[in-house]
Amino acid sequence: SDSDPLQDFCVGDLKASPSINGFPCKSSVSASDFFFSGLGGPLNTSTPNGVAVSPANVLTFPGLNTLGLSMNNVEFAPGGVNPPHSHPRATEAGVVIEGSVFVGFLTTNNTLFSKVLNAGEMFVVPRGLVHFQWNVGKVKARLITSFNSQLPGSAVLPSTLFGSNPTIPNAVLTKTFRTDDVTVNKLKSKFAV
Ligand code: GLV
Ligand code: MN
Repeated sequence: SDSDPLQDFCVGDLKASPSINGFPCKSSVSASDFFFSGLGGPLNTSTPNGVAVSPANVLTFPGLNTLGLSMNNVEFAPGGVNPPHSHPRATEAGVVIEGSVFVGFLTTNNTLFSKVLNAGEMFVVPRGLVHFQWNVGKVKARLITSFNSQLPGSAVLPSTLFGSNPTIPNAVLTKTFRTDDVTVNKLKSKFAV
């Protein structure tokens, strides 16, 4: 859903400051600007949620600048969870490469649409909706996701709410979650940056 380009390509010059949309074009380009080897993994999934993501977006692969798309490699340890998040600038399409993954998204009416997918099966998450994935298999799982934005952005709900800088006042979070300071402080301590 990015705006349309007005030239064949515009490889991003990441050293220049971003302008209104994306980066200024690099003046001299070569074949290597249009290829990227960063989606193959394997990634280290010994992370708090048992998930690791390597993005191919305009910041890692500047050849995508102005072209309106990007991809991620997402790997899961058994039981690993990619926590609820949303992409403000893109619809997401994904395909399971290996393993067995519970994929779900939520509508703005709080309906959950979900399915367990295996290798070769695809899903879509409409733009901006909250979604997550969970490796329900006994072995590692892997997805490739794609986005109709060169930089879809990701608002990861737990870290947005409990790991912001500065933090959201406890008065807001205790009311929001109908709970107490002890619970909110415990959650904040897990997501502190
Ligand atoms: C998965 O939801 C991803 O954003 O790559
Ligand atoms: Mn996503």
